[in-house]
Parts: sequence; C-alpha cells; structure tokens
Amino acid sequence: MKIIITNNSHSVAEIACDNVVAQLKAKPFSVLGLATGSTPITLYEKLIERHKKGEVHFKEVHTFNLDEYIGLEETHPQSYRFFMDRYLFNHIDIQRDNIHFPEVMSDVLSAAKDYEAILSDVNGIDLQILGIGQNGHIGFNEPYSSLGSRTRVKTLTRNTVEANRRFFDEDEYQPHLAITMGLGTIMDARHVVLLATGESKAPAIRDMVEGALTASCPASVLQMHAKVTVVIDEAAAALLSDRDYFDWAHKEQLRLE
Ligand code: F6R
Repeated sequence: MKIIITNNSHSVAEIACDNVVAQLKAKPFSVLGLATGSTPITLYEKLIERHKKGEVHFKEVHTFNLDEYIGLEETHPQSYRFFMDRYLFNHIDIQRDNIHFPEVMSDVLSAAKDYEAILSDVNGIDLQILGIGQNGHIGFNEPYSSLGSRTRVKTLTRNTVEANRRFFDEDEYQPHLAITMGLGTIMDARHVVLLATGESKAPAIRDMVEGALTASCPASVLQMHAKVTVVIDEAAAALLSDRDYFDWAHKEQLRLE
C-alpha cells in the first residue's frame, strides 16, 4: 500500500483528483469505480473544476458506483444515483448511458449478477475510488463479509444505518438493505484509491493498514492488492504506529518519480 498522509481534507481531495486526472489523460475511455458519502464530495468538486478548465473530459468514460440502497428510485434524494447526479454527473460531459448502478427496483438477486456481467463486458475497473466506514467497511461490505465476495445484496449493520441516518429526515424510511460490489469485485480493480479524513476514521485506518488481514475489518483485504493508494489527513492517520516510516517511504517514492 502506498500511504499518503497530508494536512487536511482539501489536500486529500487534491491528491485523489490528480490520480483520476492522470488516469483519464492516460486512457480517456477509462472505467472508474465511484463511491458516495461525505468523503469524496470535495474530490468530485475538484474534478468538476478541472473539467470546466478543459483539463479533463468524461465523454468516453464509464462509471460504476459501488453500491445503492434497495428500493430507492434514482430520483429519491437519498439514493446514491441522485447523490452522484448532484455532486458530479450533472456537471461533467459524461454520457448518461455510460453511468452504471446496480438495479435496485426489480429482481435484485439477478440485478447483482447482471452488474458483474456488465463490469466484465467493459473489462473491469481501471481506477476505483473508495471511502471507508468507521467499522472498516468498503462499499457496503460490512464486517464478516467474505473477502472474495462478488456484487450481492447485503444487510447493513446498525452502526452503518446509524452513521448514515444524518442524510435522512427524522421520519423518513431508511433502507437497511443494499446491493454492493463485493470485496472480490473491488480487488479486481487495477488501481484502488482510498480516501479518509477525520478522527472518526482513525481506528479503521489503523486496522486496515497495520492490522491483521481479517473479515472483521473488510478494508484489510486491500493488503492483498498490488496497487492501492491510501490518501488520508492527519486526523485519520493519528493511530498509525508506523507513521514515520509511511512519511519517509512517500518522500522516497516522490524522489524516485
Ligand atoms: C459509499 C460507500 C461507503 C462509504 C463509507 C464512508 O458509496 O461505499 O463505503 O465510502 O461509508 O462514508 P463517508 O465518506 O460518508 O464517511
């Protein structure tokens, strides 16, 4: 894992943005895996800025979102599709037919399989953006998810439902089921860029980077991936015991580049 520790959430987003822009410049018809949640919002803002400056185009890009709540129409303000339209897709030149989400309004069991089939039709994900849950989930792969899992229906933990309650009105229906790419699906991406900010993510980051490979911390599966870039702020890095080494290794890496 390449660990980049930087001052604040803006520089986390800037570094992630540089990775996406470099990917799209090298391969304009890239397949991107995208995440929702609070963490990538600034990254999406920066991508929109770079697009408006003419530095990056999305005309030939395909996107696959990690997950979607079962039973929420794409026009529902809490659906992840609505989120992505609002924070990214409505502001860039992506073709609507190239935006992919798990189909959550019909037969969800076959929809999960179909998602995998569409992904393999486009030859998999070039660059996958990830956030991380306080419990170490990536996508909606909650603790004890199979480390080899594929896209499927998942029951959210109470912890995740609680963490996401802030997005729903008090008496609004909040789904407890989602379709999510599996950990095996994520591991097939050719490059993974994981972002985390804030002290609430520090235990999950410690467990992911320095802990054992275990389904109790699903993100720890990334220890087995050949190309992972972890971009975190000081607060999210606070519990890393080998912090000095990560800073040093990053400096050496920059010198090499
Ligand atoms: C969202 C997703 C989740 C989030 C995670 C962190 O598509 O897959 O794994 O990345 O819950 O969410 P935030 O960024 O809101 O802390």
